[in-house]
Amino acid sequence: MFGSSLTYQHEFSERVRVGLVGCGGQAFRNIIPSFRFAPIELVSTCDPIPGRAARFAADYGAASSYTGLNEMLESEQLDAVLLATGYGEDHRPTHPEHARTAMAAGCHVWMEKPAAAAVRDIEAMHDQAERTGSKVAVGLMKMFSPAVTKVRQITRLAEFGQPSTFYLRDPELLPERRDDESLVWLLDHLPHPAALIHRLMGPISRISIERAHNGAAFVMLRFTSGASGVLHMPWGQSGMSPYERFEVVGEGANVVVENNTRITYYRPGHRGDEPAGYGRMGDYTSTLDAAPLHWETSQYSGQPYNANVFLHGYAQEIRYFAECVLHDRPVRVGGLADAWHVTRFFEAVRDYDSGFVDLKPGPEWTLPADEDAG
Ligand SMILES: NC(=O)c1ccc[n+]([C@@H]2O[C@H](COP(=O)([O-])OP(=O)(O)OC[C@H]3O[C@@H](n4cnc5c(N)ncnc54)[C@H](O)[C@@H]3O)[C@@H](O)[C@H]2O)c1
Repeated sequence: MFGSSLTYQHEFSERVRVGLVGCGGQAFRNIIPSFRFAPIELVSTCDPIPGRAARFAADYGAASSYTGLNEMLESEQLDAVLLATGYGEDHRPTHPEHARTAMAAGCHVWMEKPAAAAVRDIEAMHDQAERTGSKVAVGLMKMFSPAVTKVRQITRLAEFGQPSTFYLRDPELLPERRDDESLVWLLDHLPHPAALIHRLMGPISRISIERAHNGAAFVMLRFTSGASGVLHMPWGQSGMSPYERFEVVGEGANVVVENNTRITYYRPGHRGDEPAGYGRMGDYTSTLDAAPLHWETSQYSGQPYNANVFLHGYAQEIRYFAECVLHDRPVRVGGLADAWHVTRFFEAVRDYDSGFVDLKPGPEWTLPADEDAG
């Protein structure tokens, strides 16, 4: 969808009428800028902080603003609400409560991650969406990033073979105390690696964890596909270090992504013109058809692909949701089904004590969708 020519917001003939709920940092930095590449019309803004929603409305072209969600839903004819309200005083996400209110008013819903702190809240939203016919999407933007999209395409090639092992480094903190307040960082950040892992490797069937003294950890993973993997959470790394590196190994091929911007696909092959025994190779290169393939961003140009919203997948996820609403298509990537797996992974890591922990399979509606979205 995004490898071909982009459409600008003002070029779409039909647009989804949305209300933005939560005019904070994420709305300002990544959600509103994504509207410029989506069939979205920002109708209203909402935030309880006095003056904030009105200021956002004036700055970003909404006709009205409110300090409360109920008032906005009663006064406006909206197709969808976009929620970025974050956490309540109980340190749990407010998104489930606001999503339920919006669905009851007949709206479709897009919400920032984390969708919830408990699988039962995801299931309740799913049940309600089934009753109201609402489309519900969650901001699992990594599922839409160009790097993850390309790796998914590669790992599904016959020549790659079945993915066998996987690893991802991403500095997360597993606190010693596991109460809601201490867990906010993990709850807030784990959706990113969890979404990436789920998109590329599918459901997890078993975990075990080695936690270091400072909350850094290795989370060992077994997938229902038969593959195994590890999430390295290098809490304690330098603030100057990149966050992310990941690799999928297949059967005779592997693909590596560095810092979300450099992808190397090691295609099936060998060094030299033909296979040769150890001690008989004088050339470390290969024939051209077996050479690794490499992509990286070009920081020279003003192309949208250099923009934060495209590198991370924000523009893609917002447009995908808007198009699902406009064309009455189910949200099959980054919907409640994927959020169920992400939330279950959070619960499993949070509740981990010792040994191997088997995770029960999800309900049928949570089966991963075979759909391209990036
Ligand atoms: N995907 C990402 O990369 C990413 C990055 C940052 C934040 N986020 C997510 O976005 C969400 C918001 O984070 P943030 O950094 O913008 O927080 P923030 O505190 O800057 O903004 C939240 C805003 O929501 C408003 N709000 C709170 N309760 C409300 C209510 N009942 N109705 C309307 N508005 C309400 C607050 O007044 C505030 O302006 C969080 O869930 C966070 O995890 C995602």
